Amino acid sequence: MSLEGNPAEARHSLRFRFRGAEVALDRFSPRALVLDWLREEVGAKGTKEGCAEGDCGACTVVLARLHNGALAYEAVNACILLFGQLDGAELITIEDLDEGGALHPLQQAMVDHHGSQCGFCTPGIVMSLFAAYHSGAPATYAGLCDQLAGNLCRCTGYRPILTAALEICDGAPDDRFATTTQERAAALAALDDERDVFVGDETSFFAAPASLDALAALYARFPDATLVAGATDVGLWITKQLRDLKRVIWLGRVAGLDVVSESPDGALSLGAGVTLTEATRLLSAIHPDLSELMRRFGSVQVRASGTVGGNIANGSPIGDIAPALIALGGKVVLRKGARTRVLPLEDFFIGYGKQDRAPGEFVLAVETPRPGASQNYRALKVSKRIDEDISAVMLAALIDVEGRRIAGARVACGGMAATPKRAATAERALLGASLDEPASWRAARAALSQDFTPLTDQRASAAYRMTVAANLLEKALIEISGASAPTRIGMLHAAE
Ligand SMILES: Cc1cc2nc3c(=O)[nH]c(=O)nc-3n(C[C@H](O)[C@H](O)[C@H](O)COP(=O)(O)OP(=O)(O)OC[C@H]3O[C@@H](n4cnc5c(N)ncnc54)[C@H](O)[C@@H]3O)c2cc1C
Ligand code: FES
Ligand code: FES
Repeated sequence: MSLEGNPAEARHSLRFRFRGAEVALDRFSPRALVLDWLREEVGAKGTKEGCAEGDCGACTVVLARLHNGALAYEAVNACILLFGQLDGAELITIEDLDEGGALHPLQQAMVDHHGSQCGFCTPGIVMSLFAAYHSGAPATYAGLCDQLAGNLCRCTGYRPILTAALEICDGAPDDRFATTTQERAAALAALDDERDVFVGDETSFFAAPASLDALAALYARFPDATLVAGATDVGLWITKQLRDLKRVIWLGRVAGLDVVSESPDGALSLGAGVTLTEATRLLSAIHPDLSELMRRFGSVQVRASGTVGGNIANGSPIGDIAPALIALGGKVVLRKGARTRVLPLEDFFIGYGKQDRAPGEFVLAVETPRPGASQNYRALKVSKRIDEDISAVMLAALIDVEGRRIAGARVACGGMAATPKRAATAERALLGASLDEPASWRAARAALSQDFTPLTDQRASAAYRMTVAANLLEKALIEISGASAPTRIGMLHAAE
């Protein structure tokens, strides 16, 4: 089996590093998960299962990968990580932190500061902190709160955990991982053969194409295959819906799918494979609200695995990136075979669970302009919890101002319809409104009920959603008018 017709070029095994050695496997289920492999096959039970859906962090492990020649350590949720996603990485679990029978400095600090009681969350918390310990920068209180947003502890309370972490995560790691960086980086470089990976046969396989052409050819041949990027959605299809995925195409090895570029007019293009962690950095430079939005997107673990393309392609009505970029005038770039096409992002979402994507077609990139000098942008998310929670309502607005009058408006919402959607009637109602006359915004508030018929579900009632959307629009306008400075939870958090 080959991806582009030459069987000799594909590698028929998965290769990764684990406990100082290379693991090569030529047979495994395409739906196998890292947590199950660790606990059931390896007997490494230090990594726990709590929720099995990426929410609690009990299963946190660290992947070390080469980024631009340097080792980067990322905390990820093993419960929703496909086994095949380990290809090319070093897998580090809580058992590996042992320093010749002694505790790792982080573990010792957790003991010293009473950072653990029942201990169920502790391996996951230590692994999240281990990634921070090796991040190359001294940890801050706010940074550590973010780092642990995806790790739930029910009994200890976070203060002693943060005290332990602040003491140890000083930007100068001093453990056996720090002293073996060069050898381990060289071992990972040796795994990077740039070959397509295909494990299995035509009826059941895990494939990881290495190029865009190989991906296009393979997906054209198996349009019913499941594309997997970070698996932060797909992993839950396995653990919660018990879906039996037979043909899996993982996008994590596709060279060129994570390219970031900027057009001469300043528009930013994010390859579909750009992780949410990387997107946070890039989108934050467009507007501070995108920084806040992305910081509240899932958790460190979810952002390390999840991708921009996955967030768009899943067509979720409550996905955060789509409304944020629709308001900015974003576009999606699709590829099928050798052909690419570009669509306004809002036109990509046709109906619930339905996108304008042909069989064998995949998301190549997402493009977004930056706000112009006369344009004011706001992106506001409301969820039940601040951290690691899907939006109940998300509203983004780009308001063009001439003098003190609104000369143009793009307003998009998530959580208000079966798809991320523009509020066309409210946009029209805003035209000509004055920033100095809040009464002139009322028609736009009211018009939202013509644009949307939201659902009642476990996150929010329809009435709550409608009221929140109207209030978010008004909040955006109050801020843009200058009557109030922006208020965001992240600002308080950073000041702590
Ligand atoms: C605990 C938790 C918290 C979360 N919090 C948030 C949140 O705050 N906001 C939010 O919006 N989402 C959230 N999510 C959802 C999820 O993390 C995001 O939607 C994420 O962006 C999905 O990206 P992925 O790469 O993991 O996608 P995957 O799970 O790999 O794929 C998702 C879907 O997209 C398809 N796909 C992936 N890449 C492509 C491509 N290039 N072309 C075509 N199809 C493709 C897959 O086939 C699948 O249908 C959360 C998830 C979890 C588990
Ligand atoms: S078990 Fe809860 S995040 Fe994995
Ligand atoms: S120590 Fe019990 S859940 Fe954290």
